[in-house]
Amino acid sequence: MLKTLYRKLSKIVPMDITRLLMWQLNKDSLGYAHTDFNFSRLNSNDLVPLINKPEYELSESVVASLESNSVVCIGALHKQQLIGYMFFCTSPVEPHRNSGGKPFSGIGLVFPENVRYVYKVLVLPEHRGKKVAKLILYYAAEYFQSRGIDWIVTTTDWTNSAFLNVTQSVGFKTVGTAAEIVLGSKHLYRLPRRFSLGKSAESALNMIKPDVNR
Ligand SMILES: CC(C)(COP(=O)(O)OP(=O)(O)OC[C@H]1O[C@@H](n2cnc3c(N)ncnc32)[C@H](O)[C@@H]1OP(=O)(O)O)[C@@H](O)C(=O)NCCC(=O)NCCS
Repeated sequence: MLKTLYRKLSKIVPMDITRLLMWQLNKDSLGYAHTDFNFSRLNSNDLVPLINKPEYELSESVVASLESNSVVCIGALHKQQLIGYMFFCTSPVEPHRNSGGKPFSGIGLVFPENVRYVYKVLVLPEHRGKKVAKLILYYAAEYFQSRGIDWIVTTTDWTNSAFLNVTQSVGFKTVGTAAEIVLGSKHLYRLPRRFSLGKSAESALNMIKPDVNR
């Protein structure tokens, strides 16, 4: 009911309301092994052949981003076919790279080195509901923990129940809500307070808006 109202209202006054979710990794074994799926880090060569397959929703620029050290893609494979993936990156996430599409300017994130941000997630429709997304996160948790990462964070539209449930099922907590509302040529923002990850001022996560209203 509320979601329907939001979608109708958004057509008149474009608004992008996202939840900020954070997962503090711990050393417990999470158990992605011994399933029907295999998990591994993918490089751009693994994904180039899939750019022309619309079901994978991969653009050339997304695949090319894997050539940078700041981006990691973890994939799930079933019988050697890629059936799901998640992209993770380091700080900063520029606002224009994290927008709800046209006409939004986006909301970015700045966070310390021991944090990774999940920003592109897909499980092929025929493999949904089999815990593939959850298992990718478990694998990613172990992959990043072994490299000194303590937190995985993400943002998602407040209406995306599927992804919200995935994140909550592994232990992400909602720590804030961000909104961008477009009124004519003005972009209004409501950003959550900085989220402290330690004692020093630098060890905090901030959501940021673009410098100027376009
Ligand atoms: C969101 C998405 C990645 C989920 O993948 P999935 O492999 O089907 O999810 P899982 O099977 O691992 O589900 C994990 C948990 O989330 C819940 N969940 C998953 N999809 C759900 C849905 N559509 N509705 C309600 N709950 C859902 C499951 O019940 C499960 O909970 P449990 O472990 O407590 O039983 C998949 O639906 C997808 O690719 N959607 C389109 C892209 C998208 O929305 N990406 C996220 C934003 S970038």
